Amino acid sequence: MLDALILEFDRALRTVAGVHRTERASPAAGVPEGTLDAVARAEAAALMRVNHVGEVCAQALYQGQALTAREPGNRRALAQAALEEQDHLVWSAARIEELGGRTSLLNPLWYGGALVLGAAAGALGDRWSLAFLAETEHQVEEHLSGHLERLPAEDRRTRAVVGAMRDDEARHRESAIALGAAELPGPVKQVMRAMAKVMTTVAFRV
Ligand SMILES: [Fe+2]
Ligand SMILES: [Fe+2]
Repeated sequence: MLDALILEFDRALRTVAGVHRTERASPAAGVPEGTLDAVARAEAAALMRVNHVGEVCAQALYQGQALTAREPGNRRALAQAALEEQDHLVWSAARIEELGGRTSLLNPLWYGGALVLGAAAGALGDRWSLAFLAETEHQVEEHLSGHLERLPAEDRRTRAVVGAMRDDEARHRESAIALGAAELPGPVKQVMRAMAKVMTTVAFRV
């Protein structure tokens, strides 16, 4: 238990400080930079800041759930997905930097909130915890599709990152369902959407 707490603390610090290793190279690698004006760059950087906050939360959610998951098989699947979320975290941070933007100042807050949520979902048992995960991934997928509609075709590097993340999130959702996720009640999904709306609106600015 102490080991798990130390590992969690280490992960939290690295997430908030932006120090993570990637398993996979960024999907933007080798994709040429488009000619973007200042407005397009600022907008893309703000969208990527929102996505980066989402990935900070994903770290905390997966970590909270891996700490409380009962089935060893589920714990392994959560840990694997968490590694892919780490790639997303690094890819989005790198793109924000390229665009001349900055990550959210509230990252420690986002991380803490999501960790509590993840642990709470985990405490309800694996079926509900996976249900929460599957719905989160589903909403993130939709949200990233929205960004792909908003980002100019010219911004191929940002689009490459967002597209690859969306593909991963779809797989995370499918794997949560394959592991036996329950279906969340509609009102719970609505509350999650409302919370996500607050988060994305704030993160777009701060
Ligand atoms: Fe992700
Ligand atoms: Fe995911």
